[in-house]
Amino acid sequence: MINIDYTNMMASAVPSGVTPETWSAFEEKFKGAQAGFAKLVDSGEVGFSEIAANKTLAESVVAFAKSVEGRFSDVVVLGIGGSALGPIALRTALCADHWNLRSKEQRAGQPRLHVLDNVDPVSISGLLDILNIPDTLFVVISKSGGTAETMSQFLIAYDAVASRNLNPASHFVFVTDPSSGALRKLADELKIPALEIPSNVGGRFSVLTPVGTLPAALVGVDLNELLRGAAEMADRCLSPSLRDNPAGIFAALQYLSDTDLGRHIHVLMPYSDELRDVANWFVQLWSESLGKVDSAGRHVGPTPLPALGATDQHSQVQLFMEGPADKTITFLSVRQRSVDVVIPKLFDTVPELSYLGGHSLSELINIEQLSTAGALARRDRLNMTIELSKVDAWHIGGLLMMLEIATAYAGQLYQVDAFNQPGVELGKSFAYALLGKPGADDAKAEWDLLPKPDSRWRTNNQ
Ligand code: PA5
Repeated sequence: MINIDYTNMMASAVPSGVTPETWSAFEEKFKGAQAGFAKLVDSGEVGFSEIAANKTLAESVVAFAKSVEGRFSDVVVLGIGGSALGPIALRTALCADHWNLRSKEQRAGQPRLHVLDNVDPVSISGLLDILNIPDTLFVVISKSGGTAETMSQFLIAYDAVASRNLNPASHFVFVTDPSSGALRKLADELKIPALEIPSNVGGRFSVLTPVGTLPAALVGVDLNELLRGAAEMADRCLSPSLRDNPAGIFAALQYLSDTDLGRHIHVLMPYSDELRDVANWFVQLWSESLGKVDSAGRHVGPTPLPALGATDQHSQVQLFMEGPADKTITFLSVRQRSVDVVIPKLFDTVPELSYLGGHSLSELINIEQLSTAGALARRDRLNMTIELSKVDAWHIGGLLMMLEIATAYAGQLYQVDAFNQPGVELGKSFAYALLGKPGADDAKAEWDLLPKPDSRWRTNNQ
């Protein structure tokens, strides 16, 4: 079960919230957004919402995972952005050993899964130091097949494999576009197995393609359930009735909060360690999809912010309660945890400890979430809760699909193209120019126009 309780977004509960009149009037606008998204799907331009029905793709993942079963102690994903955040979110939510802390015996034949999502030499050399390369499979993920960070990681890993006289075709698998890009070409040349990201599924919407499903399958996640959850949610999110459409409700309320109610910052706050990286994944989805110049030339888009309950009750919640009223808080709550721990009844003469004894930790974390939601509501702070009955493959598939479709609807509401990212290009071109990539002359010329660092405006501590 996945439900949304949005009582605390509405004026009936929180005075500055959405009024019943605004909400009913919004049905029409939502219909327009839904029609706009349906057009993109029907024309084949956008494919993520139908991905769970692509049996061939899922079978290619299962077949590859089976072919390497028991062969590797470690799997290392190389990728960045949408090619890393999805695998990380799935690992944290669904892989029992997500911190890679279990012994070989405890893992019972399951490899450890690492995701290198940056080009910090400290992390890369630190990981290479602990890996036994002959026992390692590298999963190189890049839709474009040419991203500088991922290609650098790949070159380093390739050298580590080749310099040990190991066969790269046995230690690499690529996940990339079906026909274009350098990785696809290399796969053909070097006979490296390569799985497909359908060309109509973009990076941050690709978690349910082999981008996420291959790493997940390699550590034993139940793909059938993941994709069944996603498919069922996609159906729910097609409902023309806003009140029955979870993606529509989320998109509409966040959009209204931003554009009508001054709530420009959208916090996603799971009360679950397993869901903490869903919040980081969502941050990319919401910001890279919606932070744009709209069809009228205005700079638009909400600012997403990740938080974690109960940890952030001792950090950001002070700001959420008493800082500027410019945020919505969306909680992710989990009714039933996979394990629970009862707090022992000890020190019954110490009142600060004794009231805790006999409660379970899941009771504690869930009561803390309810209390924080209630406290925010009492201070006129808008919040809503996405409730999951548990964290398993079915629920995660559903949750991710819901947030993806919500993002597509929000793109329509903001009148932006949710599927491109033109704003990242200039920084990339400057980096190409500075690294001497051929064809970057224009970027170099633009870079040279920048004012040079000015000694008047720098500290000079030796
Ligand atoms: O959402 C996106 O398209 C981007 O964030 C990409 O995922 C990111 O830039 C990595 O791109 P690629 O998968 O082509 O290496």
